[in-house]
Amino acid sequence: MSGHEIIYERARSLFGAERDAVANAANLAAIVYGELPDVNWAGFYFTRGNELVLGPFQGKPACVRIAFGRGVCGTAWAEARTIVVPDVHAFAGHIACDTASNSEIVVPLERSDGVVVGVLDVDSPLRDRFSEGDRSLLEALAQLYVGHSDL
Ligand code: SME
Repeated sequence: MSGHEIIYERARSLFGAERDAVANAANLAAIVYGELPDVNWAGFYFTRGNELVLGPFQGKPACVRIAFGRGVCGTAWAEARTIVVPDVHAFAGHIACDTASNSEIVVPLERSDGVVVGVLDVDSPLRDRFSEGDRSLLEALAQLYVGHSDL
């Protein structure tokens, strides 16, 4: 198994039969933060009305509320698509939570009915940290999370 397959299987076995959305998000944030190299923040934001609100994460304290369409997270929500930012300093509207972050990927959490219920956000101190392989892994983890949690 590749490193990414091991991470996916670890997440699947940690979720097990648990369906609590907070517990599963907390464990998934810990897996991504602990297993993916060169990551300084990994965590969740959940949709609450017209905002995203901070959920379980690993890393430094982060901004709590992000409006629809704002920053990388709000844009991923508004456009319902993964956004890979190779250089956060070149992304107009990027919201800096940890000044150490230089690149970022945000994956929407899309339910089977098409509703985006939040995002999975991962930051790195390296520029251009997130490859197509990382995108595939994080999108697969986001789908696994949504499928295994009551959201
Ligand atoms: N950079 C994000 C904000 C969240 S922090 O990175 C944890 C954004 O621009 O939406």
